[in-house]
Amino acid sequence: MHDRLSKKDTTMTSQDNDRVLIFDTTLRDGEQSPGATMTHEEKLEIAELLDDMGVDIIEAGFPIASEGDFRAVSEIAERSKASTICGLARANFKDIDRCAEAVRKAARPRIHTFIGTSPLHRAIPNLTQDEMAQKIHDTVSHARNLVDDVQWSPMDATRTEWDYLCRVIEIAIKAGTTTINIPDTVGYTAPMESADLIKRLIATVPGADDVIFATHCHNDLGMATANSLAAVAGGARQIECTINGLGERAGNTALEEVVMALKVRNDIMPWSTGIDTRKIMHISHRVATVSGFAVQFNKAIVGKNAFAHESGIHQDGMLKNKETFEIMRPEDVGLAGTSLPLGKHSGRAALRDKLSQLGYEIGDNQLKDVFVRFKDLADRKKEVFDDDIIALMRVGEDAENDILQLVSMKLTCGTGGPAEATVEMEVDGKDVSATSQGDGPVDATFKAIRKIHPNTARLQLYQVNAVTAGTDAQATVSVRLEADGNIATGESANTDTVVASAKAYIHALNRLIVRREKIGEGADTREISYKDI
Ligand code: KIV
Ligand code: ZN
Repeated sequence: MHDRLSKKDTTMTSQDNDRVLIFDTTLRDGEQSPGATMTHEEKLEIAELLDDMGVDIIEAGFPIASEGDFRAVSEIAERSKASTICGLARANFKDIDRCAEAVRKAARPRIHTFIGTSPLHRAIPNLTQDEMAQKIHDTVSHARNLVDDVQWSPMDATRTEWDYLCRVIEIAIKAGTTTINIPDTVGYTAPMESADLIKRLIATVPGADDVIFATHCHNDLGMATANSLAAVAGGARQIECTINGLGERAGNTALEEVVMALKVRNDIMPWSTGIDTRKIMHISHRVATVSGFAVQFNKAIVGKNAFAHESGIHQDGMLKNKETFEIMRPEDVGLAGTSLPLGKHSGRAALRDKLSQLGYEIGDNQLKDVFVRFKDLADRKKEVFDDDIIALMRVGEDAENDILQLVSMKLTCGTGGPAEATVEMEVDGKDVSATSQGDGPVDATFKAIRKIHPNTARLQLYQVNAVTAGTDAQATVSVRLEADGNIATGESANTDTVVASAKAYIHALNRLIVRREKIGEGADTREISYKDI
């Protein structure tokens, strides 16, 4: 059981406390990254996983941005258990009111309001220093009248003039903010500077001892984790981060990295978090799946190779003593360890047990469905490894309700000419088929699908990964499509790469259709911008 702070602690912890709050912004800063859009149900699922793993504050979205964001933040707030639920708002009353309305039902609601304070950002709304200072006072006071827990951020703090930064922070504290977040919006700072900035702010700004200082780093120079930890050394007691480091451009600080760094090197960084680290791997897989942003193989903590020891010297060392090359135990991040693969004789109980080890607790109906697909895979593949099971769980959702379904496909390809694909699909209950030629089997298949379901969706991403080693390995395919401002990612896994590609493409099309039907064409695209204060 992780230790969770009381409401009082998440708003008023002093800087010398050894507990660091984890503020997760996967659903806001992460989801904001182009192409990472998640469905409503996916956002609810991720929020629940974050809550269960012990995240102190979940930034659930930007309520004014769209109806979809508002609905997601409201429902996450209503369902929240122990986490504080936070919404983002620009420095205007309309944003703040909408945000307050969205987080209202949370047991612990927070409003996070921000404004760009650096010279470059001040120039956008064309405000003088005094005008901006007044706006900060008015908006923070307004937010504080609506909720007890208010976070304020001077966006681009690390490029804001020192005197002005101190001045606006003092104003925000006096106006009632309980957390001061220092964003390194463009990933510009470096560890020593990051520590020094927080330290000097706490020492200089009147009232700084009464609030929590937070750090929010972007990874443009690959220093987000180091900068966040340095900020904690300087006195910050809240780290803002995302699962897998998801986020705009090079992303945000990765939750799994800062949390594991604090755990493994607690001897030199004596601060603790409330995160149940054994839940890291599962949530990492889920975020990769729903965002469509695969985790790079050599990514720290959650990459496929993070605990793999391939070279002879390493393997020899590992066999003699695991600590030779391992600084943390795979079990500590939720990796099941070297467990035996399943096969076609494995039964339902073995599958349920394996799923549970991998972090999936599912009901009988879902187990029935997964078991059918597991058997199908085990018939084609001798050994079904953990990664195969994870891939199985990544796909196949929504299939029953999908308007477009793949029935069968046939391919002719080789060196003698263009590839040809004949695809048969069920469209809204009717069987339709089409044949198309293309530059290779995948191109021919996608063209045939477009003949059956004409659409103007633009292919933004087509990505294939082998799940395990061997020529009978499953391939997971991700396809991201964009149409009229809506973006949808489809995923599929199959031992046949072209079948997986067809299914992923159809999955993405189905999601685009649902998205349009639910919210109207283009209705959920974010028309707002940061300059619109
Ligand atoms: O990076 C940033 O500055 C932000 C703010 C909205 C806090 O995400
Ligand atoms: Zn950010």
